[in-house]
Amino acid sequence: MQLTLDLLKEKLTVWQGCDLAKTANAVLGEGNPHARIMFIGEAPGQREDELKRPFVGAAGKFLDELLTSIGLKREDVYISNVVKFRPPNNRDPEPIEKEQCMPWLMLEIAFVCPTVIVPLGRHSLGHFFPQKTITQAHGKPFKLTYSIHSKNSGQANSGEAEEITIFPIYHPAAALHNGNLRSSLQSDFRALGEFLKK
Ligand code: URA
Repeated sequence: MQLTLDLLKEKLTVWQGCDLAKTANAVLGEGNPHARIMFIGEAPGQREDELKRPFVGAAGKFLDELLTSIGLKREDVYISNVVKFRPPNNRDPEPIEKEQCMPWLMLEIAFVCPTVIVPLGRHSLGHFFPQKTITQAHGKPFKLTYSIHSKNSGQANSGEAEEITIFPIYHPAAALHNGNLRSSLQSDFRALGEFLKK
């Protein structure tokens, strides 16, 4: 059977492999299935849970502004989350919840096959570089040999390792009420824009 993002979404909707699925709607990533760049946040919030779409609340509006500032639209990129269900009261996801939901993110990465991944915040950064902190790593590109990667051919994946770029950025929600983080995010996006031009 051909793998499509619609099929992944359908499967995620009935999946019960994480306890959060008992209390929240499934929210898969969305965007351009051929995107060169993929943004990965933490977990859906209230608005995302209601609309079953990633980054559609206040943090999402700020993310849209940041994308526009470097000439990108949501349709150009793919946007997803580590955890696919809203944690109660927007608490931090537990390690077990991140682990249980990880196969979905891996499938999305294998499907979209981006060359640049932008982890938004520490939960997402932790998947790629468990030893790095977002405070040290934000706004800079890092090379990573990542083993789940395949061409967007409808096949699950070829299992080949490829070198991708990880460009961590603070989570837009963290910057909503903090002016310093806001300007840090804006300048990190400028750096990302310059990097993408190369
Ligand atoms: N915060 C996230 O990490 N993801 C969303 O989809 C919305 C807010």
